[in-house]
Amino acid sequence: MTAHNDYFNTLQAVLLADGVCAPTLVIDQDRLLHNLDLVRDFAKRSGHDLRVVEKSLPCPDLLSLVMQRWGSQRLMSFHLPFLLADVKRFPTADILLGKPMPVAAVAQFYRDYQPPFDPAKQLHWLIDTPQRLQQYLNFAQLQKLTLQVCIELDVGLHRGGVADEASLIEMLSCIRQHPQQLSFSGFMGYDAHVVKLPRILGSAKQLLAKSMSIYQQRVQLAKQRFADLWPVSPLLNTAGSPTYRLHENNALCTELAVGSALLKPIDFDVPTLTAHHPALFIATPVLKTPAALRLPGLPDVAAIQGRRPVFIYGGQWLADYVSPSDLKQWPIYGRSSNQDVATVNRDSVLAVDDLVFLRPTQSEAVLLQFGAIRVVSAGRVVAHWSVYND
Ligand SMILES: Cc1ncc(COP(=O)(O)O)c(C=O)c1O
Repeated sequence: MTAHNDYFNTLQAVLLADGVCAPTLVIDQDRLLHNLDLVRDFAKRSGHDLRVVEKSLPCPDLLSLVMQRWGSQRLMSFHLPFLLADVKRFPTADILLGKPMPVAAVAQFYRDYQPPFDPAKQLHWLIDTPQRLQQYLNFAQLQKLTLQVCIELDVGLHRGGVADEASLIEMLSCIRQHPQQLSFSGFMGYDAHVVKLPRILGSAKQLLAKSMSIYQQRVQLAKQRFADLWPVSPLLNTAGSPTYRLHENNALCTELAVGSALLKPIDFDVPTLTAHHPALFIATPVLKTPAALRLPGLPDVAAIQGRRPVFIYGGQWLADYVSPSDLKQWPIYGRSSNQDVATVNRDSVLAVDDLVFLRPTQSEAVLLQFGAIRVVSAGRVVAHWSVYND
């Protein structure tokens, strides 16, 4: 007798046989490969290179598998400790920063990175304002370095980046005046708002057209007025997991950034990713499942509701219960990161020492909270992948 469906029942058997006795993360490698191939095939059709969003997959073996499967050397990094680990593990990678970093982080990078990685050729710092460009220029002058810079465009997300022509002209003029210190590699314009905004503000198609028209205008300005700076192979990055599939006919941008869609946590249950399969779960043991939930100072409420409590090992993660299907958070009892409580139907066969499964809402924070990830394929644990740490 099992409380799980076939998929989770098999997963439970595989994990128990591997000695799971505490909360653990599981990646279903077969589903991961399915997702990887969906993205790869799409990019082939649409004619884009793929850049792996490292913060969403902060696990070197996972990044390595993705890069291999996609035949891509491109990473997008968002965190200095991960960036330093990337250049060590992937010395031939081409790395674009996904957010503008304090100039102090640039200085720290130059103190700590190791050759053979060559930042002048392989690293693109993301610049959002003329002021930050000036800070980077000062640093480059002081250190006698050349920094490759990619300019962040605000294409409607309003999370930062260049939002007006005057700032763009100021920044490109600055780069032109300092060819020894600064080189221009292209633009990054992230467009998550296209699928996230309420539809009353426009269809995804309409919002994408608007965002691409801004992108197009910025490219045109740079090409026409700063032709001398325009790279032979410009880096024109866009998209993310929720939007990549909307870029089939995008002939302007050269590459798409994708990370989370490969594991498909809950926040990525969006219409553009229906073909992707959830591939990341938390598994944790049931510690106790008393016959009725008794609230301190109150009569036996759960018994009245036909439910019984399930205390689990750990809890309060950025995740929702997924199996057994009747397992639900119990909102009245307080939450606990040590032994959280949920409820199941009173007649459930879920028992102490069984495992329950949760699906993370996102991957970037959750992946770092459990130590090594168990990788399962065809009914076996095939690897344990350690994750990045700060
Ligand atoms: C600049 C940028 N590009 C792309 C992404 C997409 O990442 P993911 O594919 O993991 O959603 C993000 C996510 O925050 C981002 O900030």
